[in-house]
Amino acid sequence: MKIENMSKKELVVLVSHLQDQIKKQNHPRLDGSSEEDMYKILAHSSQVGFYIMQGKRFRFVNHHVREYAGYSEDAMLDMNPSSIILLKDRRKTAKNATMMLKGQRFSPYEFRILTNDGRIKWIMETVMPITFKGERAILGNSMDITERKEAGKRLEELEALESSILDAIPQAVLGLHQRRINFASNAVETIFGWHREELIGRSIEIIYRNEKDADTIAGLFYAALENQRTFITEFPCKRKDGREILCRMKASRIGERLRDRHIVVTYEDITEQKKAEGELKRSRQELRELSAHLQSVREKESTRIARKIHDELGQSLTALQMDLSWLENRLPEKTEPIREKTRRMAQLVDSTIESVHQIMTELRPSLLDDLGLPAAIEWQADDFQKRSGVRCESSLDCGETPINKELETTVFRIFQETLTNIARHSKATRCRVSLTENGNELCLEVADNGIGITGEQINDHQSFGMIGMRERAHLWGGTVHVRGGNVQGTTVTVTIPLDKGEIQ
Ligand SMILES: Nc1ncnc2c1ncn2[C@@H]1O[C@H](COP(=O)(O)OP(=O)(O)OP(=O)(O)O)[C@@H](O)[C@H]1O
Ligand SMILES: [Mg+2]
Repeated sequence: MKIENMSKKELVVLVSHLQDQIKKQNHPRLDGSSEEDMYKILAHSSQVGFYIMQGKRFRFVNHHVREYAGYSEDAMLDMNPSSIILLKDRRKTAKNATMMLKGQRFSPYEFRILTNDGRIKWIMETVMPITFKGERAILGNSMDITERKEAGKRLEELEALESSILDAIPQAVLGLHQRRINFASNAVETIFGWHREELIGRSIEIIYRNEKDADTIAGLFYAALENQRTFITEFPCKRKDGREILCRMKASRIGERLRDRHIVVTYEDITEQKKAEGELKRSRQELRELSAHLQSVREKESTRIARKIHDELGQSLTALQMDLSWLENRLPEKTEPIREKTRRMAQLVDSTIESVHQIMTELRPSLLDDLGLPAAIEWQADDFQKRSGVRCESSLDCGETPINKELETTVFRIFQETLTNIARHSKATRCRVSLTENGNELCLEVADNGIGITGEQINDHQSFGMIGMRERAHLWGGTVHVRGGNVQGTTVTVTIPLDKGEIQ
């Protein structure tokens, strides 16, 4: 194994083994030159740094020491050994070495050196007292642990990053192995009321309402994660205080396969969000119902007024018209000014009848009641052409299926709004209206050749005409689709299913 890859424990074993070897070799009495030879052999065969220090000088350094320090042998033999130690670490290193030499410390110590090329390296070292050439000396075993230190630092940084990422996530994160919690982020406290330490080692059942729920969700997770990396669902959970919460969960398996049932799950408390969504839905529904009610009241009221005008005003005006005609016929000759006055009165009554008729039609087109939707649309298209000057072609292809009267009114009112919009905004010269019905759905399409409409105009929350059209169609389960560019003009398509015939 390479020294760089050894653990601290393995390094300690290696160093103490070398020291034993030295002790054994030291035992027999040796003369000066054979002693030096023996150290050279040991140093050469050593896998770590090996040096002898005497009188504040290196007496011997092996190639490992020279390599990590970056000095030649001569330079090293010339220097004070402590001079390569980083100034900050010198005192502590000297203290550690003294303790070890006195037999008060046994584990290796670490310090930093400044290499010849100006780099800082981490060294781990042990020292022992020896006798070298008859005098007291220190034998050191050292090794460059810079890479290991840096790797350790990187690992620490990664771990710190990992935990700060987890802390930054508002969801609770739980790591599970065989349905047991082996990791919990700090957010579990906010979401479940448990402190993370309380959850480690416990069964995941603790955060569900009961065992059955825990089995159900485990079944879902494990089945899904066999084939996919992540799985999202919403499921009820239970807090420490017993309160039920609804959580959105996202489970991911750890690794490529679902081996050993190792998974990570994030939990987001969506109880309030769901409640708010429900309330919003309810209030939208209430608004729709209110709007439907108001529209129906308005239609009924218009019909009532139209009938009253017809019955009372219409009949009186007709009677007045007949009386004027009777009077004109009976006026004596030579009363030309009175005759003229009577004629003008008759003309005024005629145009009043015409206006009243117009008002009645606007309030409630009687054609809609008498002849049905296609006829009313055709009449309205003709009337629009006359009044606006926009040429209007209509193609009406409706089957025999009787259409609900209220639905007919809805489609007719939408049609009226599209025509008003064409007159007000489109600058069109022509428009095409088609009404088709195939038994399943009713489709009204109105297309003009005007300036077109933008996405913002279509979706503007202040566009009450558009909103009104959509709302009216929505009541019948239908849709309104508007599209348009500046080349092709604007097309409004209303589609309403016919199967229900009931208000949604
Ligand atoms: N046929 C059309 N051609 C071009 N632009 C149109 C057409 N129909 C609608 N628009 C644009 O879409 C906008 C929204 O129409 P909408 O009917 O909702 O509102 P409005 O007609 O301005 O006001 P009202 O609430 O009185 O109907 C219009 O202001 C207009 O700019
Ligand atoms: Mg409008």
